[in-house]
Amino acid sequence: MSDASVMDKIVSLCKRRGFVYPASEIYGGINGFWDYGPLGVLLKNNIRDSWWQAMVECPPIGPDGHPIEMVGLDTAIIQHPKTWVASGHVGGFNDPMSTCRQCKKLFRSDHVPDMLGEAEWVKAFAEALGAEPAGSVTFDAARAKLWAERKGKKLAPGLALVRKTQAVLDAMTSALGAAPVPFSQVLTHAASENAAAGLQTACPNCGGDLTEPRQFNLMFESHAGAVADDASKVYLRPETAQGIFLNYKNVLDTTRVKVPFGVAQVGKSFRNEVTPRNFIFRSREFEQMEMEWFCHPDDSRMWFEFWKAERMRWWRSLGVSDTNLRFRDHEQDELSHYSKMTVDIEYRYPFTAPDFGELEGIAHRGSFDLTQHQQHSGQRLDYFDQELQLKLKAEGKPDDEIKARSRYIPNVIEPAAGLTRAVALLLCEGYAEDASRASPVFLRFDPKVAPVKLGIFPLVNKDGMPEIAEKLYMELRTRFACEFDAKQSIGKRYARMDEIGTPFCVTIDGQTLEDQTVTLRDRDSAGQERIALDRVRELVSARVLA
Ligand code: GAP
Repeated sequence: MSDASVMDKIVSLCKRRGFVYPASEIYGGINGFWDYGPLGVLLKNNIRDSWWQAMVECPPIGPDGHPIEMVGLDTAIIQHPKTWVASGHVGGFNDPMSTCRQCKKLFRSDHVPDMLGEAEWVKAFAEALGAEPAGSVTFDAARAKLWAERKGKKLAPGLALVRKTQAVLDAMTSALGAAPVPFSQVLTHAASENAAAGLQTACPNCGGDLTEPRQFNLMFESHAGAVADDASKVYLRPETAQGIFLNYKNVLDTTRVKVPFGVAQVGKSFRNEVTPRNFIFRSREFEQMEMEWFCHPDDSRMWFEFWKAERMRWWRSLGVSDTNLRFRDHEQDELSHYSKMTVDIEYRYPFTAPDFGELEGIAHRGSFDLTQHQQHSGQRLDYFDQELQLKLKAEGKPDDEIKARSRYIPNVIEPAAGLTRAVALLLCEGYAEDASRASPVFLRFDPKVAPVKLGIFPLVNKDGMPEIAEKLYMELRTRFACEFDAKQSIGKRYARMDEIGTPFCVTIDGQTLEDQTVTLRDRDSAGQERIALDRVRELVSARVLA
């Protein structure tokens, strides 16, 4: 469904039925924050439980035919502030921001068209790098266009220029053999060049003056303790991953895992996103499901491919259709500072259609994080691989090769998914319209994640029917999430269940009193079959727990 208004209908259904509410609504709401209502929390927990089951409780079978090794963790949201220096978030988790002096709107400076010409840009880069402009660097318009097309973006005025500048910067730094330079540093420099040259960067909203770019760090800050000063400054974690790296040695020392192994975590993360948007897709407080897979550097490519396949398989297991999912490799200029290679699993959201948007990233983080934490903490985080040592010895390898290969800092493959983003995805995937039904909109959740699995209704609230329905409810409620409802017409009760995505409903009617059979209604087809009352448990269990 490509209509942007579909998203408005989904947001309205979520509010009406208690999936997601705007946070702090009675005070007018707070941008980028959402509350999960009674049904939303059930849906979110079911997705989380399915992920935990697939990763930790029953992890996949590895290439050797045995289940891989995986453990879980639940680490603090606030960690030692040095964590975020080592991880690169204090220095590099920035967006350059400009404000319009006229309309006061805030913009990501690197998204704003700029009036500097190519020659000025190259000069600005060179000066920021402290070098002479490299003569061979030219604007590659074809590359900028290809980049925009792959992302389904229109080439807005300036977008080409902005991407061009990154491409030129990359080319220049590598041609000069210089260390990578943050793009933001060049932007700041270029803005002052702009001013000196009497050129202006216009506000894309009103054409007014923009302030010079300021570095805007996406981490939320707080203070631990009674005194709020620099020494007590702490950060709310922007990703759950770092808590895993900080405990990598604890896990090795206190459990029986050996490399290769994984550590999984689900929890809240916080990012002061400049433009939170698209409902719960990009919010400032969200939940992640992340797993760090520690492996020998020589095997890292193989494990990268392994996790790519496993993660896609899991999304399909939630009933997400193949046509709405795809892989997209990150291009060199969009890789995060820690990543050697990254592939995104993308979904065709109504607000990105016909293009796709990010759902999960699978990154090859190399040994970046453990090396950084080793340096900053002074603790050894390398790994002695005894099994590999014995194997190399048996193969008759020379001593220096055995030594070099059997002690190493593991590489990390990281599948990082958004849990709250998965809620958005399943709401979009499940949303269906059919004007001929009692409920013209309904949610086709896979029974595994549906908040309520079975509605149990007496046709009328008399003649012994409520008693039979209630008895069935008391029997089944300990097995899966059921709802007993005796109010309103049966049509209205079905409609409500359809709207909240309940896959099955059982109705006790007049015939039940005669022959102990009930109707079992299927949400998607709205069709009914007659089954024996004493088979409800078995039949519904088979369908919802499959
Ligand atoms: N540890 C790596 C990491 O955090 P990421 O691509 O920044 O990588 C992983 O985040 C996933 O977390 C994303 O694919 C997305 O599903 C989710 N995510 C990231 N930022 C989000 C936000 N502001 N709101 C909701 N989900 C977000």
